[in-house]
Amino acid sequence: MRHLICTVAELTDGGEARRFELDLAGERVPAFAQRWQGQVYAYVNRCAHIPIELDWNPGKLLDDSGQYLICATHGALYAPDSGECLAGPCAGQRLRALAVCEDGGNVYLEIESNE
Ligand code: FES
Repeated sequence: MRHLICTVAELTDGGEARRFELDLAGERVPAFAQRWQGQVYAYVNRCAHIPIELDWNPGKLLDDSGQYLICATHGALYAPDSGECLAGPCAGQRLRALAVCEDGGNVYLEIESNE
C-alpha cells in the first residue's frame, strides 16, 4: 500500500524535510522524508536516545554541514542514508527507516500490510 507524502519538487536536495505522520501498530507517529545526495530517505521522527522529534526547526533536520541529520536536543548525528547514529549519546543505534519511492512526480511511503 502507498501513501502520498508530497511531490518530488517539494524535496530539494539538502533542503528541508517533509514532515508527515503514519500509523505504526495502531499508534500515530511523526515521521519525515529528506532528500539527500539525490535520494529520498524517510524515518520515524524519534531520536534513538530519547524518543522525541529531532527537528531544531520544523523540517530542519540536517546540520550546518549538510552531511548529517542532527537531533536538536543533545546533538546526536545520524547518517542520512542509513539512519545510524554516528556520534552522540546513542552512537551505534538507528532511526527507524521507512520505505519510500518516487513515482510519477510524487514521493510515496510504502506501507507493509501488517502495519
Ligand atoms: S534526545 Fe536526541 S540526542 Fe538526546
